[in-house]
Amino acid sequence: MWSKLVRPIGEVSCRYESVRLATSLVPGEPEGPCVKTEVPGPKSKDLLCELKKIAGEDVDFTDVEKESCVINQPPGAPKLSILSFHGAFHGRTLGALSTTHSKHCRENKKEDEKCLAEVEELIEKYKKKDRPVAGVIIEPIQSEGGDHEASPEFFQCLQKICKKNGAALLIDEVQTGCGPTGKFWCHQHFNLECPPDVVTFSKKMQMGGYFHTEEMTPKQPYRVFNTWMGDPGKLILLENILYVIKTQKLLEQVERTGKRLKRGLIEIENEFPCIINSVRGRGTFLAVNTPKTELRDDILRRMKQKGVQSGGCGVSSIRLRPALVFQEHHADIFLDVFRQVLRETK
Ligand SMILES: Cc1ncc(COP(=O)(O)O)c(C=O)c1O
Repeated sequence: MWSKLVRPIGEVSCRYESVRLATSLVPGEPEGPCVKTEVPGPKSKDLLCELKKIAGEDVDFTDVEKESCVINQPPGAPKLSILSFHGAFHGRTLGALSTTHSKHCRENKKEDEKCLAEVEELIEKYKKKDRPVAGVIIEPIQSEGGDHEASPEFFQCLQKICKKNGAALLIDEVQTGCGPTGKFWCHQHFNLECPPDVVTFSKKMQMGGYFHTEEMTPKQPYRVFNTWMGDPGKLILLENILYVIKTQKLLEQVERTGKRLKRGLIEIENEFPCIINSVRGRGTFLAVNTPKTELRDDILRRMKQKGVQSGGCGVSSIRLRPALVFQEHHADIFLDVFRQVLRETK
């Protein structure tokens, strides 16, 4: 499978880089056979349109297509839509901003069903508008939006809807990828029928990129290309990080620490039900809600004064994003400080 990566993906370093990526990423077992390094945030939307448009066709663009694409007009820039979710964050740049939203949804079966019905409605609506949905972009845990979760069944159904309608499914693993949920990729928790069409990564992976299924491969080189096709230096770092994750069994560590941390948070929630609620998350990728933004910010400020850095997401959530080397005794230290801060809350 990985030998397919020896296809040149850009200029100068890319042959070297794709070979390195192949060997580097094996421990992470991405299911998509093709990996490319690039800037994923800004590219996500354009990328999906591009891949959908060009995958499968082994012919060059026509002259009319070449001329019209640079002025963003059809047929070169076809009228395609991308569907994303309220509360989603896929970056701050270029096309990604148009898929970044900021309302929230909660995890429960009813909400899942309502949301999936809305997805189908929107797909129909945009088909009728002659702007068919080329792809659906979603975070496995909607992070900036407030650590909103959906069930594995939600993702399984979403994938089925995408397949039925010929839309590609892009899972944005920029925040969740590389282990913090206890699996290398968060979508591995969902038992999807088949791999997502595209998965974007960055952050812990040291560089931005994406991997995708064979069907999404542009048949001709340079169809999805820019100056920022990755960084071989970062690849050497990544190789070593992956080696450490594997040899030090850090994913198992995340599972163990995550369980302890979540159990502790639930205990604290029971002690202070008026201050925190809705403990949730996978691995050490955990969050709790507070009733108000000001209270959340105050708690974060006082945590910091006691030497603990934690962050906020959504309107009033506190999110935990410890490094993969965070251990159970570190979890105990965090929980002690958190409990103390909540005890001192007026
Ligand atoms: C889920 C997610 N997707 C994509 C991105 C990439 O964002 P940007 O394009 O601003 O680098 C981010 C950045 O934090 C992110 O959290």
